[in-house]
Amino acid sequence: MQEVNSKPEEWIDAELAKQRAAHLERSIHVYESVGGVFTAQGRRWLNFGSNDYLDFARHPRLKKAAALALEQYGTGATSSRLITGTLPPHDALERSIARHKGYPAAVVFGSGYMTNAGVISSLIGRNDHAFADRLIHASVLDAVRLSGARLHRFAHNDPGSLEQTLKRAPSGRRLILTESVFSMDGDEAPLEAIAALAESHEALLMVDEAHAGGVFGPHGAGLVSALNLHTKVTASMGTLSKALGGYGGYTACSERTRQWLINRSRAFIYTTALPPAVMAAALEALRILEETPGLGKTLLARAQRFRERLQGVGLDTLRSSSQIVPVLVRDNASTLRLAGRLKSRGILVGALRPPTVPPDQARLRFSITLAHSDEDLDRAFDAVIDAFNEEGIL
Ligand SMILES: Cc1ncc(COP(=O)(O)O)c(C=O)c1O
Repeated sequence: MQEVNSKPEEWIDAELAKQRAAHLERSIHVYESVGGVFTAQGRRWLNFGSNDYLDFARHPRLKKAAALALEQYGTGATSSRLITGTLPPHDALERSIARHKGYPAAVVFGSGYMTNAGVISSLIGRNDHAFADRLIHASVLDAVRLSGARLHRFAHNDPGSLEQTLKRAPSGRRLILTESVFSMDGDEAPLEAIAALAESHEALLMVDEAHAGGVFGPHGAGLVSALNLHTKVTASMGTLSKALGGYGGYTACSERTRQWLINRSRAFIYTTALPPAVMAAALEALRILEETPGLGKTLLARAQRFRERLQGVGLDTLRSSSQIVPVLVRDNASTLRLAGRLKSRGILVGALRPPTVPPDQARLRFSITLAHSDEDLDRAFDAVIDAFNEEGIL
């Protein structure tokens, strides 16, 4: 092995030591399986850190569709979309997403993160303005930075605050950015009020439906569809990596916006297309959604019951109204210890700390999936009570 000159890297030790002292150091663990429930080390694990909301990631139909495409096309697309990387599954998936979301067109990107980067940096530039909810996902903030536009933050889910902020930015193109279901709080944005403000202030509106897709709206088409806001939302963005159980991201949009993105979006142009097998799996996931209405409703009912039980013993689940159920702890060290206590009981749950959530807002975040039965959720509830009791905060 070559000796590495470690001198230029020494600053990393000091920085990580600071993070560790604040209970904010992160580490990677290797898990035996994906999905909401799995068996490993002779134990049945309940995994609440997975976003496999509809239990699709191991679905036999998705696996079969991917296997067939793998056999037919091979392992990779081997080229970018505009050269020779667009194969029939890419084309079929974009058409299928557009139909599913009720838009004229759609564009698939390498991931949800890349979708935000690619769409936002194409719609606004240096002389423009972005208006983002204070709790918006990090990928949206990174995308605004990439665009060079000025970033304005408005208070979480507060159209009044958005309006004040809009009035302060008179010139240039304006783009409003919100999630429809927020990833860390599990609450829903007041989309109709935000869309009305976008219209009256002649601003573009982009909605990140990463956590609403597959769960909310008719056949899981999301909240933009459920509220019939297509004409007011320029980009209805989503991911293939959560409820659809695969990988990749997309935006539904007009034909005009699609044409703009495929001509200008660097995150679309300068990268290799996703593997055809990944596209085929997503296509099959959309077919199942179209054939099986009510999956989202079942999931939301289970999450509601779990949330009510937690609230019933005085735990703070914020304003969650979705399959994402946070339990506010506040203190970073306690949050980590609680996740450890739950793990020792066979329950995996994210211990979310700053900067993923605001300071003093550390929490456990339960992602409920269709793999979790009511009995599983009862077991999780009992474990939460025990863990909080042991920690002395209940
Ligand atoms: C709200 C939100 N937007 C975008 C993303 C990025 O999606 P992806 O994981 O497909 O890159 C995520 C999740 O990571 C998310 O929670």
